[in-house]
Amino acid sequence: MAVNSEAVQENFQNAWGKRLQALKNIPPVLRIIWDSSPAVVGAELALRAVVAVVPLGLLAVTRLIIDAVVSHVSRGNVLRHDFWWLVAAEFGLAAFATILNRIVDFCDTLLADKFTRHISIRIMEHASRLDLFCYEDPSFQDKLERARVQATDRLGMIRQMGLLVQQVITTATLAASILFFSPWLLLLLILCVVPAFLGESHFAFLGYALAFRLTPVKRQIDYLRFLGASKDSAKELKLFGLNKYLTDRFTELSDDVYHENVALAKRRLGATAVLSLVTTMGYYGAYVYVIFETVSGTMTVGTLTFLTGAIAGASSNLQMIFSTFSSIADQSLFLTDLLEFFALQPLVTSKPNALRAPRPIQQGIEFRDVSFSYPGSTRLVLKSLNLRVMPGERIALIGENGEGKTTIVKLITRLYDPTAGSVHVDGIDLREYDLEDYSSQIAVIFQDFMRYDMTAWENIAMGQISERKNLARIELAAKKSLAESVIGKLPLGYDQMLGRRFETGVDLSGGEWQRVALARAYLRDAQLLVLDEPTAALDARSEHEVFERFAELTQGKMALLISHRFSTVKMADRIVVLEKGQIAEEGRHEQLMARGGRYAAMFEMQASSYR
Ligand SMILES: Nc1ncnc2c1ncn2[C@@H]1O[C@H](COP(=O)(O)OP(=O)(O)O)[C@@H](O)[C@H]1O
Ligand SMILES: [Mg+2]
Repeated sequence: MAVNSEAVQENFQNAWGKRLQALKNIPPVLRIIWDSSPAVVGAELALRAVVAVVPLGLLAVTRLIIDAVVSHVSRGNVLRHDFWWLVAAEFGLAAFATILNRIVDFCDTLLADKFTRHISIRIMEHASRLDLFCYEDPSFQDKLERARVQATDRLGMIRQMGLLVQQVITTATLAASILFFSPWLLLLLILCVVPAFLGESHFAFLGYALAFRLTPVKRQIDYLRFLGASKDSAKELKLFGLNKYLTDRFTELSDDVYHENVALAKRRLGATAVLSLVTTMGYYGAYVYVIFETVSGTMTVGTLTFLTGAIAGASSNLQMIFSTFSSIADQSLFLTDLLEFFALQPLVTSKPNALRAPRPIQQGIEFRDVSFSYPGSTRLVLKSLNLRVMPGERIALIGENGEGKTTIVKLITRLYDPTAGSVHVDGIDLREYDLEDYSSQIAVIFQDFMRYDMTAWENIAMGQISERKNLARIELAAKKSLAESVIGKLPLGYDQMLGRRFETGVDLSGGEWQRVALARAYLRDAQLLVLDEPTAALDARSEHEVFERFAELTQGKMALLISHRFSTVKMADRIVVLEKGQIAEEGRHEQLMARGGRYAAMFEMQASSYR
């Protein structure tokens, strides 16, 4: 990926428009900061307002002191009667400001912690409400990743917002005092600072545009880095000799990123150096003017000191305002993804006053002419599919890979809504039911079930978190899923940390994990149990054992099981063969064998491979 000059040009043109647009991010961000702790934000602002007027106070007192000294030394006048009080006031002001500044720092630290906490919680809460399809969309992954980083990388911005308030007040008070002595001086100062601000913020924007454009490449780089040193990839990488290939690709991609960053940094260096020079010239121009006025006798030495101090203070504060502001504006650009993420709304939601799921379900779950294509794709995965799961019926769903079995599970569980047609529970459209309440009636174990890096009992309790304290039920679930024997072998039993993430963790084999996951389903007091090929990691005998138990335990309940192994499929009350988005055949094992159709052919093929 080389630097695309057209893209850079376009960035250049859009830079300002986008920057102004980014300013609209500031109010919602202020809102979030305020919400993280109104008390701390209020205290900090009040303190900063006080600190901000200290420089003017110091200069004003200094002016009086110097004029008194000059008149005493050069003209022999007596010192004014309150002279030493002035000196004391100067010291008092400085000391006061120092202490206030420390308290402001303390508030900043508090606020940073509160903000991080607040925003992390909000991200987690919001993420949990979003549709599954968001997560299955790679561009969403990019956005979520950026949003996460943005939330915690922008702590500096909060401090800068407080600083900005302070700088504005300081500058305004100093500028007012300069204006009092000479309006032209003030104009000169402003004119010199503006170009530097424009330059700085322009390049900051280009930096953002570049970072944004490089996100996909950086994700690839991260993936390669992860792949190069991970437990899962180590075997294949070694045996296939892939390390050099991956390292080369990594180097190539990171070189591209490096070159693009350096190219931008070089341009920035050139442009901002020239602009800083302009600012410095303006400052010294003003300085020369004031000296001239003093030498010619129009101004006192005290005023000279005051004005040079005020000019230095105002111009440096003005520059700081611009750079702080431009930094805030540019950082707020980085928050676009965070705010867009917060603006995302789920499509699969409960209606207001939605119905409670029927207990028990009496007429079953029915697909009526359901067609489905994934968002962003036009290919129909399911085509006018009709299927009914009767109460107490155990259905086995079979079909080649990619025929849409998992998709059916996603529709039954309302992770997605159908593109056309509808799913009914007891004759009522699924969309009429309360989502959370309906979900509580279903237990699903997917092929890619979770392996939580938590203790064994937590891994099971995740199935029905309200039962986490009910050890008797957790143990019963483990017994049903045959996880009991796995846990019995662990050094710490149910308290054993599982997985490799944490030091004390013990990793399990695929089949052992699977039993633990299955216990989650058994812990749940569900009316419908769904197993979507979770047994792929098991050998044929263990799978048979697991399913035999499943069949036993789901007697009288609704169950949907998806498996490639016909020996287990045979146990179902009804077998449904899915093909080309529709049901090709259905019936009991014997019926389907007798028909000699698709099922019989698939069965024969698998049986022959065992002979
Ligand atoms: N999130 C998704 N976005 C787009 N297409 C998908 C998504 N998930 C699955 N598909 C496609 O839908 C089809 C059915 O997938 P799936 O239901 O997972 O099949 P099965 O479980 O039968 O193997 C496949 O062709 C798959 O590529
Ligand atoms: Mg599947």
